[in-house]
Amino acid sequence: MMSSLQQKAVRVRIPASTANLGPGFDTLGMALSLYAWIEMKIANRTAIHLYGEELHGIPLDKSNLIYEVAQAVFVEAGVEIPEIEISMYSEIPLTRGLGSSASAIVGGLVAANALLDHPLPLSKLFDMATQIEQHPDNVGASLFGGMITATWDGEHADYIKITPPADLDILVAIPQFQLSTKAAREVLPQSLSMQDVVFNVSHVSLLTAAFCTGRLDMIATAMKDRIHQPYRGALIPGMTQILEEAHRHGALGVALSGAGPTLLALVNRQAGTGAELEQFLGDVLMDHEIDARTLWLKPDLTGPQVIEVSAQDSFADFIKGEVAV
Ligand code: HSE
Repeated sequence: MMSSLQQKAVRVRIPASTANLGPGFDTLGMALSLYAWIEMKIANRTAIHLYGEELHGIPLDKSNLIYEVAQAVFVEAGVEIPEIEISMYSEIPLTRGLGSSASAIVGGLVAANALLDHPLPLSKLFDMATQIEQHPDNVGASLFGGMITATWDGEHADYIKITPPADLDILVAIPQFQLSTKAAREVLPQSLSMQDVVFNVSHVSLLTAAFCTGRLDMIATAMKDRIHQPYRGALIPGMTQILEEAHRHGALGVALSGAGPTLLALVNRQAGTGAELEQFLGDVLMDHEIDARTLWLKPDLTGPQVIEVSAQDSFADFIKGEVAV
């Protein structure tokens, strides 16, 4: 088996993700049409090759996250493959709230599992990914695609995948500065009032039902949150104004993307309000002296796409064909 494995390489395209969508803290996630690509093959000596500007600073030795999660798959599958070659290209900016670490975790798990011909079920990969990330929202979205609502009891994650309404476009405003999830979680309170808990339970339920039934008119109300955004607002100049006013400029709803600092607006493609909204987001952030770029995305509906190639095929050439590097 090992010699046929040595001829094989797998390539995986993994979507970025947004988490929370307002009230669904550590619960809701949506996969986005922004991608990372990972290639993995067995090697005589471990080597990690990174392509693209978004991956500066990522370790190139065995402390690399993708190497570590691949080893976790091999252990779980009962095989020993200590040396692997990993290549990665990513469009997903690091520590901006678009699930870059979740895409690396999911990509490493899916690629390692594909290299072994899929011994582990997706539910196991989801548990492993959530154990590493400690919340299921980003990893679940990247692993399953579409929108997910998920729970995590510390050992096992459950989820239901929802197909987002067909007319949904997503506008993200990505500030230049980085904000670690750790820092953005440290500002959260240790306990909440019963009123705030009830507020969020009712709003996340309304939001989930609005997505399931296509009730785009309910999204602005349903995306309100009281358990994380009010505390994180101080970390992102302009955020509070954007959350309060974006619906008047054509957003169906608006939220901090994951732990931030990216801001995310949901837009009805048929409404023709995109240009005004994009201008509004840019102007508010500029008024607060935040450099940011805006990007139009769609929900990714499929999750990871795996292709098997020969170990001799060039990853760099493949990436040049996939994206304009
Ligand atoms: N649900 C997490 C948070 C997402 O908001 O902290 C972080 O990526």
